[in-house]
Amino acid sequence: MKKKIIIIGGGEHAGVIYDCVKEQKKFDLIGYLDKKKGFLSKKKIKYLGSENTFFKKFKKNKNIFFTIAIGDNYKRKKIYDDIKKFKIQINWGIVIHPSASISPLAKIDEGAQILNGSIISYKTRISKHVCIYTGAIIDHHNHFHSFSSAAPGACTGGNVEVGENSFLGINCSVKHGVKIGKKVVIGGNAFVNKNCSSNSLYFGIPARRVRKWKDEESYL
Ligand SMILES: CC(C)(COP(=O)(O)OP(=O)(O)OC[C@H]1O[C@@H](n2cnc3c(N)ncnc32)[C@H](O)[C@@H]1OP(=O)(O)O)[C@@H](O)C(=O)NCCC(=O)NCCS
Repeated sequence: MKKKIIIIGGGEHAGVIYDCVKEQKKFDLIGYLDKKKGFLSKKKIKYLGSENTFFKKFKKNKNIFFTIAIGDNYKRKKIYDDIKKFKIQINWGIVIHPSASISPLAKIDEGAQILNGSIISYKTRISKHVCIYTGAIIDHHNHFHSFSSAAPGACTGGNVEVGENSFLGINCSVKHGVKIGKKVVIGGNAFVNKNCSSNSLYFGIPARRVRKWKDEESYL
C-alpha cells in the first residue's frame, strides 16, 4: 500500500513541497494543515484544519506521514515543538524531488526536504527537518544539523558543518572545512571563508560578522 502524506503549512513554500511530493510518486497526498486556508487550496488540495484541532484527535498511524512545509527555520522548529506537545508518535516523511542528485552514501534523516536540482554529495549528513532548496550544491562530508537550510544556489565545499537552525542565503558559498554555529544567518551572495559563531548574521565577500541574530527575526 502506498504511504500517505499530509503537508503542514499551506503557503507558497508548501506549493513547492506539493510539487516535490507529486513528482516523487512515493506518497499519496491527502491534504494540508494550517491556521487558515492557503495557497494549496488553489491547487485543490484538501484543507484539513489547523494543526491544533487535527492533532487533538489524531491517533498513531504507521501509513500516514507528515512534512513541515515552512521555509523559515525558526518557525519550522516551533511548529515541530508545538506538535511534540501532543505526545503522539509522528512519522516524518522525507521529501526529495526526483531531479535532485544524492550520493548513495549520503544520509538523509526524517523530515528533510531536498528540492529540485540540488546535489548532495558523498558521505554528507542531512539531519532532521533540514531543507535544501532548489539548485543548492552540498559537497562531500558536510553535516547540516537539524532545522538548518540552504537557499537556492547556495554552495558548500567539503567538510562544512552547518549548525542547528542556521541558514545559508541565496547563492552564497562556503569554503571547505568551515564550521557554522547554531542560529546563524548567512546573507545572500556571501563568501564564507572562516568559522561563524552562533546567533550571528554574516554577509559580504569575504563574509564578516555584521551583528547578533535574534531567534524570531525573519530573513525571508
Ligand atoms: C542579510 C539579510 C538577512 C538582511 O539582514 P538585515 O540586517 O535585515 O539587513 P538590511 O536589509 O536592513 O540591510 C542593511 C544593509 O546591509 C546590506 N545588505 C543586506 N544584505 C546583504 C547581503 N547579503 N550582502 C551585502 N550587503 C547586504 C543592505 O543593502 C543594507 O545596506 P545599506 O545600509 O548600505 O543600505 C538579507 O539581506 C539576506 O541576504 N537574506 C537572504 C535572503 C535569501 O537568501 N532568500 C532566499 C529565499 S529562499
